[in-house]
Parts: sequence; structure tokens; C-alpha cells
Amino acid sequence: MATTTTQNLFFILVIVSAALLRLSQPSEAHIHLFKTCGFNQIYQLGDSISDTGNLIRETPIGAASPFARLPYGETFFNNATGRCSNGLLMIDYFALAAGLPFLNPYKNIDANFEHGANFAVAGSTALSTQILANKNILSPVTNSSLHVQLHWMRTYFHSICHNNRDCVEKLKNSLFMVGEIGGNDYNYALFQGKSFEEVKSMVHDVVGAIKNAVRKVIHYGAVRVIVPGNFPIGCLPIYLTGFKTNDSAAYDEYHCLKELNELSMYHNDHVQKAIKDLKKEYPNTVIVYGDYYNAFQWLFHNAPYLGLDVASLQKACCGIGGEYNFNLTRMCGVPDVPVCVDPRRHISWDGVHLTQEAYKIMAGRLLRDIFPQLQCLI
Ligand SMILES: *[C@@H]1O[C@H](CO)[C@@H](O)[C@H](O)[C@H]1NC(C)=O
Ligand SMILES: *[C@@H]1O[C@H](CO)[C@@H](O)[C@H](O)[C@H]1NC(C)=O
Ligand SMILES: *[C@@H]1O[C@H](CO)[C@@H](O)[C@H](O)[C@H]1NC(C)=O
Ligand SMILES: *[C@@H]1O[C@H](CO)[C@@H](O)[C@H](O)[C@H]1NC(C)=O
Repeated sequence: MATTTTQNLFFILVIVSAALLRLSQPSEAHIHLFKTCGFNQIYQLGDSISDTGNLIRETPIGAASPFARLPYGETFFNNATGRCSNGLLMIDYFALAAGLPFLNPYKNIDANFEHGANFAVAGSTALSTQILANKNILSPVTNSSLHVQLHWMRTYFHSICHNNRDCVEKLKNSLFMVGEIGGNDYNYALFQGKSFEEVKSMVHDVVGAIKNAVRKVIHYGAVRVIVPGNFPIGCLPIYLTGFKTNDSAAYDEYHCLKELNELSMYHNDHVQKAIKDLKKEYPNTVIVYGDYYNAFQWLFHNAPYLGLDVASLQKACCGIGGEYNFNLTRMCGVPDVPVCVDPRRHISWDGVHLTQEAYKIMAGRLLRDIFPQLQCLI
């Protein structure tokens, strides 16, 4: 009797520990497998989700931004690098998994680009500053939209390739990331007072710009392209604060704003439809959707098993005030705005961007989804 109970207990413990291990290391096997792709370079287009130092180098506005100062970067680099987090981003984890060094920002003129380059700029948009201005939407941080980044990319490839054929040969073992991008087009519109209907009407053009960017990188020579979608923005402190309402029906069971998450889903549906079309157009190119939406939801819903502080899931680690530890006029990086004691237990770093820990978990989850679709083993 006693033995059976002990045995049962033992088995339960094994099962529980195995389950916990699986949750905490969702992707070790896939992280290992990712190296079998043999990528020589990764090229990234995008915004603050992936910028590793372009904005802080490109203009005085960027150099003066909070991303150029501590506490940004405090956890991994012990210094600000221009990454909009306390440490590493998803693209850093993708590079690590590929066995490559971190991607250098294109605007670092002294950098080595042997293993790829990062063209992403924090604050950038999928639509050009001019097109947004025509819709009365101001792009306040940078003019380096997707179109500008593609231009930098083309200039760079011209500098390393003799001709297009040479580029096709040089890029055959490269991975291209087109996004996340487009999130800021909606951010600016929503915070500048556009209605949901107006913002929804932008999705067609935003995704059109992303689709054209994919066509362009394929023409440069890309054969493997990942096109990420947007996050469930209704779960982020900046939106929870800005669109706070007494109407409980506006929130889902996880206390995320439904209408904002629906906007992200609407955008993501269009991105996936665009990928489907592009695959028909380019049958020899591998084009994979990066499901950032569901990777975030997985992280958010499994937070208790992942060592995160359940009471802080929607509170910025670095920030002050209100229900979400966030105030648009006193954001992270402003003097006297405090940082939480243990960023490893938070999802949100500054109310807009995620912590290194959240990005690490999401990156692992994403690699698990993406790796089989990249067709590296055939
Ligand atoms: C910190 O980063 C800045 C650039 O963001 C660089 O100029 C500076 O030398 C770095 N400091 C240290 C101690 O690494
Ligand atoms: C964007 O370009 C306009 C026109 O050249 C310029 O006035 C503005 O300062 C630029 N904005 C940023 C954030 O660099
Ligand atoms: C929510 O309700 C409280 C108390 O009824 C009221 O004071 C407040 O203005 C309301 N806030 C919003 C955003 O409607
Ligand atoms: C944000 O901070 C400002 C300045 O400290 C303050 O006046 C305002 O009430 C705060 N807003 C919220 C929503 O807490």
C-alpha cells in the first residue's frame, strides 16, 4: 500500500517536472535544429521590436531618445545599445539559435556585416511618412519607413554583389525577416485620435506595403523569408492605459481590450492572405508567417508556469503610476521613473516593449512553429 502511494507520488512528480521542464524550455530541440538550416546571414527589416541600434545612431532625435540610455539594456549589456528592452530581443535569440553573432545595426558604419545586417528602426512605419501625413497622421520618431529601409538594403547589396546573379548566389543561405512592421502605423493613428473604422481602413495599404517589401527582398535574392504579424496590442499597458474604460464588456477573459486585439487579428489575417498569394507568385521561395500574436498569447496564458509574476502581467516593469504602472508623459527612461526589482518576472518592460525574458520565451515558441516550415532538412 505504502509503496504504491510512494510510487504514484513519484510518477506524479515525474510527470509534473517533465511538464514544467517542457514549459520552461519550450524549444531546446528546435533551437538546436535551427542550426541545421546553415544560415550564413540574417537580414532584418522592421521597427522597435527588432531595432538593435539604428534609431539612436540615425538622427539627434534618436540619440536623445530614452533607448540610448539606461535602464534600457541594463540586464544583458549593462549599457544601452538602442534595443527597446532591458536586454535581448527576439531577433537576438533567432541569431543565437542560428549559431550567428547578434545582427549589427546598418547605421553603425564601423560594424561587420558578414553575418547579416539589421535595417530595423524603432518608431518606423510600413507606410511612408508622406503617405501617413496625407492621412493627417504624424510619424514622430523617424522617417525611415519600410521603403527607406529597403533602399538601404539595396544600397548595401549593391556594395557586396557584382550583379543580381552574384547576389542570388551570395544570399542563397540567408534568412530574411520582413517585420514585425506596421504596428506603429496603427499606434500613431489610434493615439492621434483616429477611429477604429479609420484605422481598420489602413490595413489594406499597410499590408500592401509589407507584401511589396517581400517581393523586393525576393528580387534581391532571398529564398527564405519570415513575415511576422502584430502582437495582441489590447494586452499591452500603453493601450490598456490609453483606452481604459468602465465598460467591462470591452475586456476579454484575460483583461485585454477586445477591439484592439481584433484590430491586430484583422491585420494578421491580411498578412497571412498576402503570404498565400506570394507563395503562388514565388513557388520557389519559402515564405513563413511569424505568429507573434499567438506566441504572445501562449506566454501570457502560461505565465504562472513560466516563473512570471502573475500580479504583474499587465504592469510595465519600468514605469510609474496607474493600474498598469504606465504613464505616457512619464515613460521608462525619464528621470525618477523606477524599474522593477526583477525584470525576469515581467512580460512588459516599458509598457510598449517586452522584457528580455518575454522575448526569449516567445522566440523559443516561434522557432518551434517556424523551423519545420523553413524546409531546412530537405
Ligand atoms: C555604451 O554604449 C554606448 C553606445 O550606445 C557606447 O558609446 C559606450 O561606449 C558604451 N559604454 C560601455 C561602457 O560599453
Ligand atoms: C522627417 O523629414 C522631415 C522632412 O525632411 C523633417 O523635417 C523631419 O525632421 C524628419 N523627422 C524626423 C523624426 O527625423
Ligand atoms: C468610471 O466610473 C467612475 C465612477 O463611476 C467615474 O468617476 C469615471 O469617470 C469613469 N471613467 C470612465 C473612463 O468612464
Ligand atoms: C501622468 O503623469 C502626469 C504628470 O506626473 C500626471 O499629471 C497625470 O495625472 C498622470 N496620468 C495618469 C493617468 O496617471
